[in-house]
Amino acid sequence: MVLKAKGLRGLLLAWNLFVGQAKLWDKIETESAPPGRFLHSMVLHARRIWIFGGAAGSGKGPNDGPFNDLQCFDMASEKWIQVAAEQTPAERAGHVAIVDGFGRMWIHGGTHSKNVPPADQLDFIELDAIDLSAKTGRSWTPVQPAGTPPAARTMHSAVTDGFGGMWIFGGLRVGPSTSPSEAIFNDVQYFDFEGKNWTQIECAGDLPTKRFGHSAVLTSLKHMWIFGGQGEPDNFEALAYLNLVTQSWFRVTSKGTAPPSLLAHASVLDARGRMWVLGGQASPDQANGKVYYLDTSLMQNTEWKMLEEFGSAPLPRIGGRAVIETSGKLWGFGGTLGPPRDGTFPKDLYWLDTTGPAPTTATSTTTRHPKDPNPNSGGSTILVIVLLLVAAALIGGGVFFFRRRRDMRLMQDIGEPRQVELGEARA
Ligand SMILES: *[C@@H]1O[C@H](CO)[C@@H](O)[C@H](O)[C@H]1NC(C)=O
Repeated sequence: MVLKAKGLRGLLLAWNLFVGQAKLWDKIETESAPPGRFLHSMVLHARRIWIFGGAAGSGKGPNDGPFNDLQCFDMASEKWIQVAAEQTPAERAGHVAIVDGFGRMWIHGGTHSKNVPPADQLDFIELDAIDLSAKTGRSWTPVQPAGTPPAARTMHSAVTDGFGGMWIFGGLRVGPSTSPSEAIFNDVQYFDFEGKNWTQIECAGDLPTKRFGHSAVLTSLKHMWIFGGQGEPDNFEALAYLNLVTQSWFRVTSKGTAPPSLLAHASVLDARGRMWVLGGQASPDQANGKVYYLDTSLMQNTEWKMLEEFGSAPLPRIGGRAVIETSGKLWGFGGTLGPPRDGTFPKDLYWLDTTGPAPTTATSTTTRHPKDPNPNSGGSTILVIVLLLVAAALIGGGVFFFRRRRDMRLMQDIGEPRQVELGEARA
């Protein structure tokens, strides 16, 4: 349902608040918006949204990226500003970013289409020190960490407790791997902000299988919840959490109206402990257009719910990112529209109000686009695009432990760098 008139929208919002259905999407489209992209990073700090890097298109065009621009959306002025800084980290996509309790945005890992992997590079920039009206005087700080750095990777996940450090989990290796089991990770690594050192965490419990393109959030109980991704055969619809204090993993059986297994989706945790999941690739020809959530405080007893969308919901997209304000306003940016419109990278900034009673529906479905005459779509799937960046950087034999058909296909993509020629396949 698309609402055009402001007055009408206000009226409907009031009505839906009244009947307990206030769930409005909206979007902000401005001239100043940065180019559309996916597999970028996105963080929220002091009412500003910051994005870094990402990629668009087939990776062959002059404007396809990967990018290394730092962009800021200021909520007060509703404007995007590109922020120039010295010592800018290399272009990348599939990297992770967090903001620590000192207002520093850290980025780690990711990959580069031109076979120059950022490897285990770690950089930060002090967001509070950035004067948006000034043109100069800003700089990233590359960090030379102590300890053994984690293997170079992309499409992993990262969470922070603010002042202590950052935990990363899983991901796909960047660079040569000698065996299939080396290509994907399920390790947990901790970076200490004070000592600037890495420690591999030896976890107990029910370890999740190796995966990438999953998502992670950290709860107030110091549980790191992960969902989805792809990798070693597993039930990727299942959830798991790591108790960071005891360093023990627990699996959570998926109950309720659960999302399908999703690759390259976005997850955020709201102030009430609810984990929200949106976007992502559900299967080679399906993008997820629904929004799901669950209450992490219920731990093993938690149940998925699906949001009844209302308003101008964004189209299903893959590789988009999201952040959430403590008020419950969720913001999303980027991603590529799912099949058959993959290859389209919208640059709107959209939001969803997650507060209020949450209506659910009885069945879980994944949105499939109607046939679209877009000539750019070709026969290629978005999966191939997602892996394009990875393919260039990954050397190694086939990976044989994938059983499901789509996993087979995925691994063929990884094993064959010629997928970089995708531009031709798509033409
Ligand atoms: C990392 O630094 C912290 C703080 O200085 C220190 O307590 C810890 O022992 C260090 N860990 C490693 C593995 O060096």
